[in-house]
Amino acid sequence: MNHHVHLGLIDVSMTVNGVRHEISASPATRLSTVLRDTLGLTGTKVGCDAGDCGACTVSLDGKQVCACLVSVAQVQGNQIQTVEALAKDPIGVALQAAFARNGAAQCGICTPGMLMAAHDLLKRVRVPDRAAVMDALGGVLCRCTGYLKIIDAVLEAAHGQIISSVNAAAKQSIGASVEKLDGASRIDGSAHFGADFAPADSLWLRVVRSPYAKARFETDDLVAFAEQHPGVLRIFSAKDVPGENSFGVYPDIKDQPVLADGHVRYRGEAVLAIVGEKAALESLSLEALPLRWHVEEPLTGVIAALAKDAPSLHAFRPDNILTQGMVETGDVDHALQNSEFLAEGVFETGFVEHAYIEPEAGYARRIGDRIEIFACTQAPYMDRDEVARVLGLSVDAVRVIPSACGGGFGGKLDVSVQPLLAIAAWLLDRPVRTVWSRIESMASSTKRHPSHITAKAGCDRSGKLTGFTMSGDFNTGAYASWGPTVANRVPVHATGPYKVPHVRNICRAVYTNETPAGAFRGFGVPQAAIAQEALFDTLAEKAGLDRLEFRLLNAIRAGQTTSSGHLLEASAGLPECLEKLRPEWQKMLREAEAFNATATTTRRGVGVGCMWYGIGNTSMSNPSTMRVTLDAKGTITFWNGAVDIGQGSTTVLAQIAADALGAPIHLLNSVVGDTDRTADAGKTSASRQTFVSGKAAEIAGAALRAEILRLTNAGANAVIVFGGSTIVIKDGPQTTNLDLTRLTPGKDGAVLEGIGSFDPPTKALDAKGQGVPYATYGFAAQLCSLDVDMELGTIKLNKIVAAHDVGKAINPMLVEGQIHGGIAQGLGLALMEEVLPGRTENLHDYLIPTFGDMPEIEIIIVEDHEPLGPSGAKGIGEPALAPTAPAILGAIRHATGIMPTKIPVLPHRLWERMQEHKHS
Ligand code: FES
Repeated sequence: MNHHVHLGLIDVSMTVNGVRHEISASPATRLSTVLRDTLGLTGTKVGCDAGDCGACTVSLDGKQVCACLVSVAQVQGNQIQTVEALAKDPIGVALQAAFARNGAAQCGICTPGMLMAAHDLLKRVRVPDRAAVMDALGGVLCRCTGYLKIIDAVLEAAHGQIISSVNAAAKQSIGASVEKLDGASRIDGSAHFGADFAPADSLWLRVVRSPYAKARFETDDLVAFAEQHPGVLRIFSAKDVPGENSFGVYPDIKDQPVLADGHVRYRGEAVLAIVGEKAALESLSLEALPLRWHVEEPLTGVIAALAKDAPSLHAFRPDNILTQGMVETGDVDHALQNSEFLAEGVFETGFVEHAYIEPEAGYARRIGDRIEIFACTQAPYMDRDEVARVLGLSVDAVRVIPSACGGGFGGKLDVSVQPLLAIAAWLLDRPVRTVWSRIESMASSTKRHPSHITAKAGCDRSGKLTGFTMSGDFNTGAYASWGPTVANRVPVHATGPYKVPHVRNICRAVYTNETPAGAFRGFGVPQAAIAQEALFDTLAEKAGLDRLEFRLLNAIRAGQTTSSGHLLEASAGLPECLEKLRPEWQKMLREAEAFNATATTTRRGVGVGCMWYGIGNTSMSNPSTMRVTLDAKGTITFWNGAVDIGQGSTTVLAQIAADALGAPIHLLNSVVGDTDRTADAGKTSASRQTFVSGKAAEIAGAALRAEILRLTNAGANAVIVFGGSTIVIKDGPQTTNLDLTRLTPGKDGAVLEGIGSFDPPTKALDAKGQGVPYATYGFAAQLCSLDVDMELGTIKLNKIVAAHDVGKAINPMLVEGQIHGGIAQGLGLALMEEVLPGRTENLHDYLIPTFGDMPEIEIIIVEDHEPLGPSGAKGIGEPALAPTAPAILGAIRHATGIMPTKIPVLPHRLWERMQEHKHS
């Protein structure tokens, strides 16, 4: 080796993106750290520091490697290429363009790694086939896209043939697959995610977390400990919190401490926050901390928590029941007693991890008497309010700037780093940053609620549903988080998208000493759909009906009333989804029959799953406000406070605003998500941004247009030509010029503005769950074909066909991307994913779907116009996932004769059930 050792450091010479660098570092320093921290090349992302996620994939002497697994000592004299170099290379340029055209980057955190892996492939194999692409990119995980658009993009770049059709310059942008407006920063690595940017003089923060699920603790002299450890500046505990030491998403349930105060309720709970120099914090042994633990017996699982003598987790809920939600209509007991056919079952699902590839990260800094937070989030305004409470400040004293968000799926709706960073930066008056490790992220963040559901359904001789009842206990873990939302949303949705005359659904969220369960794509609806759809398969069989036809017979339609008493006046597209799927369903059934006639140890099954999903909050106000302005130069600015977590709201909302204004979308400059600059657009959850913020964007664009037409006395159909300080209004034969420089500028230099607000109309639910919980619903049905190895219990998916009623598809490419990603997460829920606290807190023990797990997917978009939505649009984020598991589980049952009741259906579970089945 031609480098020398000096004070434990080595000197290394390497060439990065064509530039030679000489650096000194400790030999074990990861290459990813050198690239990001020393050279400032933050395009290389870090998702796990363990070689599991591949986000940090770079090229080392022409070969793809995970930069987190390569030490700096291994790169002496080497050539390294990162995503920042791709724009200078023809293959790189072709790949980047194809990724943008195909919508292959959603949140974009995996994209640099994907691109580098693809680049490595195309350098070696100029025209690869699909299998070669899957193989070469197989080491990189993506949680958003479902991989298929990534494969399409790589094949398109390789074959030089445009597969997708994009219409970015379209006059009408609604309905066009416009490339993502923020896509460029995802594919060139320039987007700043939470870990990518902080003031240069930032201190670092490290959280000390409980190793126990339930314990009391005391601390000794933390000041003395800090003084004894050079580089450690301060250790914060509960008593340092300036305002309220609590947070929680509901205004009346702030049950989670920012820093635990004398006792902990789950393993991974934050106890102390140490602030200092990064190296000092990293090398600090936490065992030496003056912390004394008194471990107690935790309550694990809802049965233990509901036992008569169970200790209470929180004094305000002595019986450990956080919330109970219910929906009741008719007389279900009588209806079921008098039903021709009955089906019943008990179903269980486990904790599921969001597994966004970007762990929580950000910084905070105090600016005079204000605090600024930059962090990954789905809910900047809720973060602002929460930080204000914790610091004892007014909300005006808090600014939240959302970073690019590397995936959320509901997991970044709760605060994570924000209050801790704020406390430290406020009290020290120094910028403070943190990046949680993968293990820390998985140990401390919320999960999908495990469910224990008992359900019973009945139908008459003709197959018409007569009654449905379910009782579900959802394990909400140690703190409330979104537990009340789940408990209230599930009973409304639990019948599925069907007309059922007699219903009683009860759902409880139950505290336990486990990881808090929160919001995860669907808020409990996917778990309930698993139980309900399984029972409807049983009823279809008993009534002698085809499973799809049974669903069509019972599908709820416009003009009918839901079990919550909500009359669906307009959009209810399940029947159309099912009718469009019928030919493929019949083909799949025929193919399965033919396959099974000759197969020996493998059996093919086909399943169908349906869902509905109320868009927006359940019976609660969730308004959004958008603003479109013109300045004196004629610049159009779209002030959009909706956080884009990868799904594409930055693009979709701009499409809506542009069309309402009558301007081409490329003339809109977007200012996205900054609580000081944009109005409150609510949180990015409940599939609400297209519907709620979209309507607000439509109103804002239309308001600005109306103002221009008013000033120029032009008619409603006039054409406005934007693009300079004078805009031209053509109204039939008449042309009018409007000189913007003559108008008086107001806020942000705007000479004209349009503001739009929308709060979806709902009505509170009464004690029996009757009201109008949502303004509208998305509907979907999915089909699945799969093969089961009858000797091993392993499952291979062949194909999923998904028909989704999204209302108007504002951007079909992005709608497809959501469906692909939802299906990937749905198959994870059905077949693979199960959090075992303390055992699966990394991405090699917790398995999420990879390239090889994805089946072929065919998408049918159904556009059942919703009069309340912008151009008739509804939503797609959560609906994309909910029907997948029921379709897969139905197919397993069709193949094996076994109705899965414990989810996920891991091979050993299915194998055991098949053995029981054989011997029964
Ligand atoms: Fe791949 Fe988000 S786009 S992880």
